[in-house]
Amino acid sequence: MVGAMIPSPFVAGVGFACRRIVDPVAYRAPAEELAAIGESWVARRRTEFLQGRAAAAEALRAIDRSGPVPRGLEGEPCWPEGVVGALTHTRNLVAAAAAPRARLLGLGLDLEPAERKVSGEVSRIVCTPREREWVDRDLAVAGQQRPGLCLKLVFSAKESIFKATFPHARVRLGYHDAELELRDDHLEAMLQRDAGPALPAGSRLAIGFAFPELGPWSEASGPERSGSYLMTYLAIAARPT
Ligand SMILES: CC(C)(COP(=O)(O)OP(=O)(O)OC[C@H]1O[C@@H](n2cnc3c(N)ncnc32)[C@H](O)[C@@H]1OP(=O)(O)O)[C@@H](O)C(=O)NCCC(=O)NCCS
Repeated sequence: MVGAMIPSPFVAGVGFACRRIVDPVAYRAPAEELAAIGESWVARRRTEFLQGRAAAAEALRAIDRSGPVPRGLEGEPCWPEGVVGALTHTRNLVAAAAAPRARLLGLGLDLEPAERKVSGEVSRIVCTPREREWVDRDLAVAGQQRPGLCLKLVFSAKESIFKATFPHARVRLGYHDAELELRDDHLEAMLQRDAGPALPAGSRLAIGFAFPELGPWSEASGPERSGSYLMTYLAIAARPT
């Protein structure tokens, strides 16, 4: 099966598509997208790039838009005029989201394998001192179903924030440029510096998270094609309230 194996985490009006890396790529990439493929790219990178663009095309179709999504100078996907969006790929999955710019300033999306081990060293790089208070406390708890989950949440949420803000702000936010707090069912970020005119320091962003499960889809698929994922996502309103 192609598409829709992970339900959209976004509200209506945001196009979302998800594909397995191993799905057949029937997508005929336009020249603007093919131009981004580097000669040095290994087969795996070519495939994830093309699957990402196939997912982007599906997400655009879902909001009645179309057009190539070339790669910008800073690696960012360049969505068609009047559209914002985000792309992610991990182990076996790619996903894309797109929405009209009239509604949203930016979209963020990130997928990580849920069971990936993360070393405590990472928390020193990724977390602010205040985040480390709760992240390191979580890292110290033994025997958890999802060890190091808080650190993975912070890491993934910051990737999503980066993807949602960069195209608007043209500012490469660093890991300490947003500080996160864990709420009951989402994360709340406070920007520590300006990210473009509409997102001054002190702006608050809500980042959702989910744990999609991907089961094997055929007898032959094998365990490496299934698994648990962590997905973070955010949609920044065009006029933040
Ligand atoms: C750019 C970055 C976010 C990509 O994330 P990743 O987890 O490595 O990889 P993912 O598969 O999830 O995402 C890759 C996609 O991100 C998108 N991307 C890359 N650079 C981007 C940018 N400057 N702006 C928006 N999206 C970008 C691309 O679509 C890319 O896929 P493609 O090359 O096939 O088009 C990451 O490499 C990075 O630089 N992280 C550090 C920045 C950060 O997190 N700062 C903290 C902010 S609070």
